[in-house]
Amino acid sequence: MEARGETPKVTVLDSAEEVARAAAERFVELAQSAVGERGRFAVALAGGSTPKRTYELLAGDDDKGRVDWSKVHVFFGDERMVPPTDAESNYRMASEAMLSRLAIPPENVHRINGLGDAVANARLYEDELRTFFNGDAWPSFDLVLLGMGDDGHTASLFPGTQALDERDAWVAANWVEKLNAHRVTLTAPAINRAAHVVFLVTGANKAAPLSEVLKGELDTHRLPSQLIKPLDGSLEWLVDKAAAEQL
Ligand code: 6PG
Repeated sequence: MEARGETPKVTVLDSAEEVARAAAERFVELAQSAVGERGRFAVALAGGSTPKRTYELLAGDDDKGRVDWSKVHVFFGDERMVPPTDAESNYRMASEAMLSRLAIPPENVHRINGLGDAVANARLYEDELRTFFNGDAWPSFDLVLLGMGDDGHTASLFPGTQALDERDAWVAANWVEKLNAHRVTLTAPAINRAAHVVFLVTGANKAAPLSEVLKGELDTHRLPSQLIKPLDGSLEWLVDKAAAEQL
């Protein structure tokens, strides 16, 4: 798929805390304008550990009053095949850091089921998305937040896995050999229909893969984060100094 979107913007901030603040600010600005223009804000959250502080800030006293949370629809970029109460659950992290502390109607939180069959869970999630996006050909998230692993993966699009080749599905059940587990993940073409995609990347262990993803040769099977190129949307990388060391 050829991207027509803008070239990515890379913003280097002094610390992980500043990355979290900048991400929370983007979230608030985009939520305000989407709610103002279309009456709702559809966001896909990232899992992993990096966005936790962003979520805490959004639910904190300074930010929570700036968004009409009743108009926010929360989705997830990926999920691990664990119960929602498990320490590994992306839903649990987002719920504890943010969702449980905000007045979001429960029906606006669209979680990926981590119990049972991953293929069935992926299908169910895609059905839920297709209903929400009104039968459109692709989902159109207002914002997708993403992290990047030190192997260059994003969402649960891991190097060498089958979901990297998805061209039609919005959601995939992706077998990840090195984790010996399935993950359910949005596919790259679904993410690439978003209006805004923001990566949050912090820490020295991300410096080499970040430089390869942004400046190295295109090799999307080895560095799946390179698949993320919004077709008509914006792409921004919010990174701290440690992760930007080799840029
Ligand atoms: C997940 C993710 C994943 C994550 C990266 C970075 O469920 O693991 O959504 O893509 O964003 O692995 O994780 P950290 O923020 O923990 O480094």
